[in-house]
Amino acid sequence: MPLYLDPEELRGAPGAHIDLIGAMAFRAAGAAQRLGVFETLMPGPLSVAELAARTCTDPAGLAVLLEALASFGYLDRTPGRAGVYGNSPMVAGTLDRRSPWSYAPALAFWQDVLAELWDGLEESVRTGAPQVDFYAWLEERPRTLAEFQSMLDGMAAGLAPLVAASAPHPGERLLDVGGGHARYSVAFCQAYPGLTATIADLPNALEGGRARIEAAGLGDRVTLLPGDLADPGVDLGAGHDTALLFNLCHGFDEAGNRALFKRVAGALRPGGAVVVLETFADLPEGTPATVEAFIRAFSLNLATTQGGRIHSFADIAAWLSDSGFGRIERRHADGPNELLVARLETA
Ligand SMILES: C[S@@+](CC[C@H](N)C(=O)[O-])C[C@H]1O[C@@H](n2cnc3c(N)ncnc32)[C@H](O)[C@@H]1O
Repeated sequence: MPLYLDPEELRGAPGAHIDLIGAMAFRAAGAAQRLGVFETLMPGPLSVAELAARTCTDPAGLAVLLEALASFGYLDRTPGRAGVYGNSPMVAGTLDRRSPWSYAPALAFWQDVLAELWDGLEESVRTGAPQVDFYAWLEERPRTLAEFQSMLDGMAAGLAPLVAASAPHPGERLLDVGGGHARYSVAFCQAYPGLTATIADLPNALEGGRARIEAAGLGDRVTLLPGDLADPGVDLGAGHDTALLFNLCHGFDEAGNRALFKRVAGALRPGGAVVVLETFADLPEGTPATVEAFIRAFSLNLATTQGGRIHSFADIAAWLSDSGFGRIERRHADGPNELLVARLETA
C-alpha cells in the first residue's frame, strides 16, 4: 500500500493488522475512484466544499474519506490551506485514465471482484469447485467488463511488441484465441505485413478490440469471431499457421485445457505453432516477492471464480503433448510472463 511503513513501527505489529489497514485503504481508494475524487483532483487541489459540490457528495462525509486517503498516501494535504486536498504524486502518476498504463481500470475491476466474488473463497477451497461463473458475471456488468478489458489492454500495451518479437514467425494466418482487446493481433500484424488474423472471443469482450483494429487501420486484415469456446458450434476454422493462447490457460482446469488444445489442434495446419503466453507456477528465479505474492493470490482468485489456476510449465506441456503437439520450448518474454511454443506434429 502507498503508506510508507517505518520498519521500527512494524516490529512486533500483528501482520494481520497491517493487512487490515491495507484492505481498508484499498476499499477507500475504490470508493474515492467511483465517486470521481481522483479524477476531479487531476487538474489541481480543491477544498472539501468545492470537491463535494463537484462530486455530488456530502461535505462532512467526504471530509472523513479525504482524511483517511491522506493518511494512506493517496492524497496530500495542502500546506497552509486547511481543508484543501490534492492527489499525491503516486495517484497523479498511476491513476490517470489518460495514460495507456493507468492502474485505474485495475483498481476498479479488483474492487468489484473482491467485493462480489471473494465471498465464496472458503466454499471453493472446501469443495475444490468455483463458486461463480466469472464470464457470465462479467457479461451482466458492462462497466466491470469494460474495466477488465481495459486493464488487460493496458497490461498488453508494453508487452505486445516484445512478445511479437520473441514468438516464432507466425506464417500467414494467425488465430488469436481469447484475444478480445486485439492488442496482440494488432502488434503481430504490424510486425508482419503479410499476416492476417482472426480473433475469437466472447461477443462483448470484442468491443474494445473492434475499436483498436479500426484505429490501427487493420480492418481488412483482422477478422472478429464472436462466440463462446464452450459452444461446439463456434467454428475456429482450419489451416491456421499459428494459434495464440495468451493468458487463457489459467482460466481453465486440466479438462478445460485439454478440450481447448484439441480444438486448437483442429484449427491448425500440420506443423503449425501454438504459442502460450502465461505466468507459470514454477516462476523464474529472482522473481520479486511482491510479484510472487500477487501471482499466488491471482491463482487463488482463478480457483474460486473460474476453476482455473496458475499452472506449471510441465503440466501445460504434458496436456499439449497428449493433444498432438511436440517440439515444446520455453521462451522468456518479460519478468514472470513467459512463452511456451509447440508445433502440431504431422501424422
Ligand atoms: C485473461 S483474458 C486474456 C486476454 C488476452 N489474450 C491477453 O492476453 O491480454 C482471457 C480472454 O479469454 C476470453 N474467454 C474466456 N473464456 C472464454 C470462452 N469460453 N469463450 C470465448 N472467449 C473466452 C475472455 O473474454 C478474455 O478476453
